[in-house]
Amino acid sequence: MKKILLSSISVLLVLTLIFCTGTLSFADDAAPAEDSPFRISVTVNGDTKSEKGFCWYTKTSTDSLVEIEGVDASKITYEDVFEWEGNFCHKAKASGLEPGREYKYTVGSKSVRSAQGVFVTDDGDSSLDFIAIADVQASSAENFEKGADTLRAAFSTMPGAEFVINAGDFTNDSTNEEWDLYASSFDSLNLRSTLAPVAGNHDGLGVWNWFSNLFNLDTSESVQVLNGVNYSFDYGNAHIAVLNTNDLFSLSLAQLKWLKNDMNSTDKDWKIISMHKTPYTLGKDGKWPDALYLQQSLTKVADECGVDLILSGHDHQYLRTKPLKGNKLSDDGTTYVLLGTAGSKRYEVRKFLADSFMNTDYIAALTVQRGDYGNTWNGKDFDTKKPENVGGCFNTVSIEGGKLTFNSYILSDEMTDENGERLITNTDSFTLTKETGKNKATFTVDNTTSEAEYYLGIVPSFCALAAYAFGVWLPTFLWIVPRILDSVINEDTF
Ligand SMILES: [Fe+2]
Repeated sequence: MKKILLSSISVLLVLTLIFCTGTLSFADDAAPAEDSPFRISVTVNGDTKSEKGFCWYTKTSTDSLVEIEGVDASKITYEDVFEWEGNFCHKAKASGLEPGREYKYTVGSKSVRSAQGVFVTDDGDSSLDFIAIADVQASSAENFEKGADTLRAAFSTMPGAEFVINAGDFTNDSTNEEWDLYASSFDSLNLRSTLAPVAGNHDGLGVWNWFSNLFNLDTSESVQVLNGVNYSFDYGNAHIAVLNTNDLFSLSLAQLKWLKNDMNSTDKDWKIISMHKTPYTLGKDGKWPDALYLQQSLTKVADECGVDLILSGHDHQYLRTKPLKGNKLSDDGTTYVLLGTAGSKRYEVRKFLADSFMNTDYIAALTVQRGDYGNTWNGKDFDTKKPENVGGCFNTVSIEGGKLTFNSYILSDEMTDENGERLITNTDSFTLTKETGKNKATFTVDNTTSEAEYYLGIVPSFCALAAYAFGVWLPTFLWIVPRILDSVINEDTF
């Protein structure tokens, strides 16, 4: 009898164990697939010493929860969850963080959490490290992964990067499928640092709200624009403005006014701008009206406000100018950097742009790639092939008081180093120096633009752009048409 009782208890225990295990494994397998957070980012949002923005998506509508180690839940505020293109967007903001601290965090719902991420807050001193990339512009899983490899190499080169500027064109067509592939490749990297995203012209094709629905950014003091966002922030002893170049084909008069006020409202030592489209380029987009217009409009603000560095993307090659002021060489001018592409779509030089749309005397460094063809500009020997220069481009910026050090690198597609790792080549390096403590804030009032003011400003902006397009761009373009035709026939490039 005792034997039968023990056997029955054993069978019951085994059945209970099988049932429970089955139930648990079902819950573990099914719930994360439905409700796991994806497209996760932590972004600059307001005061970089104490605030961060969070954004993530879920496939179904869930509650929102950000948990930051050592931070009381009352310091995190949430926006209402909303449906966007079939998924659910979650946004939250953390305030009251301590300056100069590393925080570990997760996002998601009460029941399903993300992997652990980490970010740091600005300590406010005059030392700062960040990464700058641009133009992953991928469609396929393979090409997103190549872009992610580039950013991974950037983190291995600068492990202490406090944030990453991505100067736009995250995807090619800005579809759900592409943003899902972006998330698959980039979420684990975005969990490693803070992002300062820039709207590119591919970041919302057809459905323009994509960009603002993917990142939680503070645009409260910016002029409002269409098809992207403008914002600015202080970090260390630098003030950084991010511009949207998708409105009215580059920058509207309202944006230029906002930028000027923004740059005059800081006493930080370093003034930096990041934007997608670029004024100075020898790439395929250099022939369109935007670039030349930026050479005439953006540069005026940069000159007036003493902007030190402008970081752009869009034209898929690396180009650095010598310091320029008044669109001329000047030792105390602004350095313009076209950041190169972190992805695998690369543009060769359009020689017909030389000395028409781009004064080649202004070029300090140039790294161009296409297919198996890579080279750097050294003034004359332009056609030397350098296979180590074919790969994803990333850049690092370090500021120490009055010294800014910039480095550009290529992660080679094919070549490996002595350890069998993909070769990283330092393709450009420069420093800027300045006397600190000299900048004064000369603009101290409200810099926002009302909706009415913005829409009324569209008319004069449009007139100014039309006058420029027909008076400046078109004659320049027509002048180089014979050289363009020659390029199309002999080099198959336009
Ligand atoms: Fe672009």
